This record gives sequence, structure tokens and C-alpha cells, in this order.
Amino acid sequence: MDLKSFSFLYGKVHGSTKKEIMKELALTEEEYQEMEESLSETLQQILQERDRAKTIGPDFVRLTSYLYEDISDQQKGLPHPPAIKARTGEKIVLPAPDSLTMPEITLAQAINQRKSLRKYSNKPLFLQELSFMLWATCWVKEYHSTIYNEFTRRNVPSAGSRHPMECYLLINKVESVQPGLYYYHPLEHTLIKINTTSEITQEIYQACLEQSMVIEDAVTFIFTAVPYRASWRYQQRAYRYLYVDVGHIGQNVHLAAEAIQAGACMIGAFVDEAMNHCLGIDGKEEFVIYIAAVGKK
Ligand SMILES: Cc1cc2nc3c(=O)[nH]c(=O)nc-3n(C[C@H](O)[C@H](O)[C@H](O)COP(=O)(O)O)c2cc1C
Repeated sequence: MDLKSFSFLYGKVHGSTKKEIMKELALTEEEYQEMEESLSETLQQILQERDRAKTIGPDFVRLTSYLYEDISDQQKGLPHPPAIKARTGEKIVLPAPDSLTMPEITLAQAINQRKSLRKYSNKPLFLQELSFMLWATCWVKEYHSTIYNEFTRRNVPSAGSRHPMECYLLINKVESVQPGLYYYHPLEHTLIKINTTSEITQEIYQACLEQSMVIEDAVTFIFTAVPYRASWRYQQRAYRYLYVDVGHIGQNVHLAAEAIQAGACMIGAFVDEAMNHCLGIDGKEEFVIYIAAVGKK
């Protein structure tokens, strides 16, 4: 769903008048009618589920207790999901992790000086530095594949080593890389070009509620979750682990940023539907879970 449709529905659900919505979204009468018609089913669904949404938090915790557990797809012998989402396209090879000069900073220093940074200098990130950030957060150090299972080991922990996250990058200022949206292939350690039009940066900025970090930083990390990679083993409880897993990645974003004289700010405030739309993902089998802006001090 694009941001316009989201805003239309938001207005409807929160009691805005037709006039207000038309003004806010600069819609003609005809456009308003068209949107009302095409979004009517979604609107009905939201209105029906509003009461359920009021208690979903405690219900989620309660109903993902082991008391409610069933037989998992893994136990049923269903095929294992792939450990990495295969993306193809034009590639940029990053400096290999074993060729990186590791920054000289103590762990205590990195932890102590970490704080959210929302203003950045104009300095770009070197490709080596981006490679280091990806090594610290997403890079696959071991890949295991059998007929029964496929899993990876990385520099962050993950429940059952399922590693259900994928990483996309909105590049603004990285040495020798054209600005735009890329997918990080964690096994190949390459960037795969998705969209290098200037509109994509603007769309992601708007989907991040116009938080200026997203356009003023050097690179924005966009982490998505592929839940079935974890729920194949952990059923609904897997959804708890998604958020815990990505928190580990987020902390390594912060610490690795400190090591390269950069800073980071995590972003949880974004329009889910619009961010998923920007990445071309469906919001169910894969959805944006966490975002991190990173730029030089
Ligand atoms: C889950 C999560 C979501 C966050 N979302 C945002 C955000 O959308 N925008 C923002 O400016 N900061 C965001 N932050 C950063 C927090 O505001 C920040 O960590 C907090 O104020 C503590 O400051 P410190 O990180 O400098 O210690 C987020 C942090 C976390 C952990």
C-alpha cells in the first residue's frame, strides 16, 4: 500500500471529514471517489479489527506461551525455507571481510560513547567502512545446508540461528556507489541494485515520517523480517524472536558506527505499509521491521 492510500485510510479511521481528506491529499472529487471505492474493503476490515487491536499486545505474549504450542512445520517434515532470500541484479562487490582493516577502538569506548546521532557531517562512508558495518551486522560467516535444514552463522545471535532478517540499504553518500536502494546479499557480500531514481529516497523519507536523518545520513539500513524462516521451527513464538533478533543487529549497528567515527540513530517510527511498498515486499511474508540511519560525525 502506498503512502497516499495509507493517509486516506488513516483519515477515514480517525474521523477526518471528506473535505479534510481531499485537502490533505490534494484530491479531486473523482479521485476521492475512486480511492473510497478501491479501499472500502480494507477500511471495513480495519474498522472491524479495531477492538481486537486494543488488546493484541498482552494477547500476543499470552498466546505465544508454550502452552498453546502445536506441531511445527519442521516437526511435520515440511521443506525448510531458504536461509537467504535470493535476489538477483546488477552487483557491486564489497571489500572482502578478511581484507578489512579493523578499526582500533576498545569495546568499552564504543559502548561508552554510543548515543543516538541525528545530525551528520557531509563526509561519505568509504566502501571499506560500509563493508565493515555489514560484516558486523548481517554478513554470513558460515552457511550450512542439508536436506533437513539450511542455516547461517553471523556476528549477531539469532534464535536457533534462523537469522530471519534481510538487509536493504538506502545509500546517500558512500564512496563510489550511486545513491539509491540496494539489497545486501549476506553470503556473497555484495550490493544488488534495486532502484537508483531520486524518487525512492524521497518516498522512503516520507514513509519514515519525514525524519531528516534518512536523507542527511550516509546510509540508511533497512532491516526486514522473513517470519517463516523462524516460524517453520518456532511457530507463532517466532514472532517474539524476530524483534529480539533485530535488536542485536541494531546494537551492532551502533557499536560498529562508533568504530568508524560515525554515529547511528535507530528508527522504529515509520509507516509499515509505505515502507513495504518502497521495497516491493508484501508486508506478510517479508516486512520492514527496523531502520537505522548512519552517518559520519
Ligand atoms: C526501538 C527503537 C525505536 C526508535 N525509533 C526512533 C525514531 O523513530 N526516531 C528517532 O529519532 N529515534 C528513535 N530511536 C532512538 C531513541 O529515541 C534513543 O535511543 C533514545 O532517546 C535514547 O537515546 P540514546 O540512544 O542517545 O541513548 C529509537 C530507538 C529504539 C531502540
